[in-house]
Amino acid sequence: MKYSKIIGTGGYLPEKVLTNYDLEKIVDTSHQWIVERTGIHQRHIAASNESSLTMAEEAARVAMAAANISSADIGMIIIATTTPEKIFPSTACLLQQRLGIAGCPAFDLNSTACAGFVYALSIADQFIRQGAVNNALVIGSEVMSRVVDWSDRAVSILFGDGAGAVLLGASDEPGILSTHLHADGTHKDVLFLQNALGKPTGLETELYMQMNGKQLFKLSVNILGQLFDETLAANHLQKSDVDWLVPHQANIRIIEGMAKKLDLPMERVAITLDEQGNTSAASIPLALDKAIRDQRIKRGDMLMLEGFGGGLAWGSALIKY
Ligand code: ACO
Repeated sequence: MKYSKIIGTGGYLPEKVLTNYDLEKIVDTSHQWIVERTGIHQRHIAASNESSLTMAEEAARVAMAAANISSADIGMIIIATTTPEKIFPSTACLLQQRLGIAGCPAFDLNSTACAGFVYALSIADQFIRQGAVNNALVIGSEVMSRVVDWSDRAVSILFGDGAGAVLLGASDEPGILSTHLHADGTHKDVLFLQNALGKPTGLETELYMQMNGKQLFKLSVNILGQLFDETLAANHLQKSDVDWLVPHQANIRIIEGMAKKLDLPMERVAITLDEQGNTSAASIPLALDKAIRDQRIKRGDMLMLEGFGGGLAWGSALIKY
């Protein structure tokens, strides 16, 4: 039986940094409020010539270099993004063209928001396990700065831009042990981003992200706790078998709660939230890449990845790195 193994990771962050102090000049907020309520100190903002495509390409090339494989070896590209370059062709097809590897399947996962990366990882894992694909490029790339209303202090302080990439390769050694995906459309109004296509004629519809933060906070704490139990039970493992939590970076208080649930000290949690904010589908691969690059996460470590976002959609992956 084949496993999918992480053979390379990469990340890209735009050069421009927007601090909480910069935000104080735009909306009625304070550095102290943002840090206390969210854990965020700053976020990166894409330049006008950057997009989910350009950032995905940067992250992909770093991951390919880390894995020491050329684009010709890639058999599948999935990009998780709620902020695609175009509705179609997919950002993945546009990246495929840039990498010069016409022929392999390439598609975006658009609507799973911050759960998108775990969903994409799960799909790529199925193809590798089946033996249909040898190497798959799985990317989360987002320009959240273009879908937030910068006058809305409840939302604008949370998000940032960036891309993270993971290269999966077929292996006889255990890698991704299991993935667990869920969704519950009854919570469709807790977090959503309307697009112009769904706009009823003649009605004023808000085209920026809308969020009920308080409700989302409560929902996420409940569903993620159950998700950990489900993931560990499926693998007949205990909390003590998990070396690292690599969470979606939405709020430090949610992440601390999840670390506690797994009995993990915060030193065993991959955090980028303070420097990057919430980069939606990019947040998990960016956090993973950082902890691998600075050698905190080592080969053989057991990783719990979890994501949740609009839908609601949520999911986990348990990985022997
Ligand atoms: N600066 C200062 N005050 C603010 C700000 C701000 N930026 N935003 C809200 N406030 C005020 C509110 O108006 C309110 O004032 P009031 O008491 O006078 O009415 C007060 O602060 C408290 O507001 P709450 O919304 O109750 O604050 P809360 O503690 O819930 O924190 C937050 C808000 C940070 C959004 C939190 O609810 C949260 O993180 N929720 C989860 C969000 C999340 O996970 N989002 C992403 C998941 S999906 C995805 O990533 C796409």
